[in-house]
Amino acid sequence: MNIAILGLGTIGSGVYELLKDNREITVKKILDIRVWMDNMTTEIDDIVNDESIELVVETMGGIHPAREYALKCLEAGKSYVSANKLLISACAFELQQAADKSGAALLFSASCGGGIPYLYNLQKTKAADRVVSLGGILNGTTNFILDSVFSDGMDYESALKTAQELGYAERDPSSDIDGLDTLRKLLLSCAVAYGKLPKEETVPCYGIRGLNDTDVCYAKSKNCVIRLTASGKPGANGTLNVYVAPQLLPCGSPESSIRKNINYAWYEGEKIGRFAFSGQGAGKFPTAGNIVRDIYSVCRGEKRMFPKDLVSVEAVNSDKHRFYVRMPENEINRLSAFSAHTEIKNGCALTETVPISFGELRSAIDGAGDTFVLILED
Ligand code: HSE
Repeated sequence: MNIAILGLGTIGSGVYELLKDNREITVKKILDIRVWMDNMTTEIDDIVNDESIELVVETMGGIHPAREYALKCLEAGKSYVSANKLLISACAFELQQAADKSGAALLFSASCGGGIPYLYNLQKTKAADRVVSLGGILNGTTNFILDSVFSDGMDYESALKTAQELGYAERDPSSDIDGLDTLRKLLLSCAVAYGKLPKEETVPCYGIRGLNDTDVCYAKSKNCVIRLTASGKPGANGTLNVYVAPQLLPCGSPESSIRKNINYAWYEGEKIGRFAFSGQGAGKFPTAGNIVRDIYSVCRGEKRMFPKDLVSVEAVNSDKHRFYVRMPENEINRLSAFSAHTEIKNGCALTETVPISFGELRSAIDGAGDTFVLILED
């Protein structure tokens, strides 16, 4: 099979290297803004108009021009394998429709969990059982930061700087530390597992920006660590409880042992039970490995990961949780109706709430100053 690669950055070059000596798959063309090999081009039409190319791998990232390139390739009947969680979650319906119309495949295993065979297995599990819950640690950068803070005693800023130097963080680390990278992986997981793609803006999403010594001391005093976790599970009447938030987890819990930039993604089937996948959630060869697996899936005739009855939904989040909330001292009254315990420490109001919904939390703290939120109980 002849294929093309869009974007010869870290992941794209990983795919290229993995396929270098492959006798079944030939990388015929590569699109990049810089051209230094004979098989390279800057023009998408060189790929779209090449009838010998059956499949296109996209490792560019971002929405533009990736969306336009994806549509052109799919409309021309070329299968599309992408690692781009932002593109796939934002343009899911449009891309799947284009693929269905031309009969091309659309697969995106590497968009969630990097090299972990999580999304692929989640999708396959549905043939055997109903998925009742999923989640975990889906972002390596924030796990690296949190592990460095809790295991190595680093401060948040130095840990973020190290994560950037090691190349774990996205170009703009905001999407890692504000939870958006995790959120997009969660949206795709829910779409694959439940046939429901939550609208991004309706999902509660709290990141680890601003984590400070007061929060770290609080967690340590409870013999716990903090991890950024994602969760998605069906609620009553066809609703979905979906969120991304830092969580307090006991030392000794599976999540607390996830070190450095490792991911820990899990799902639970109603009858088959819980399965967890742990490994490199990012990086050149692990992610490229998932892409090459998808290419072989297309060779075997697989066409889609999104279910045929995929719908767009709003996150409802009727489940209640206990939260820890740190806010400036002068905001102390915002949570008084929900407080189980409040104390003043280092100029901040620290509140442990009674069980409340994300909606109640949001309406109480919206517009407050420097705030840090932690789930105490899932
Ligand atoms: N920045 C992401 C992470 C890369 O740290 O997990 C993989 O999506």
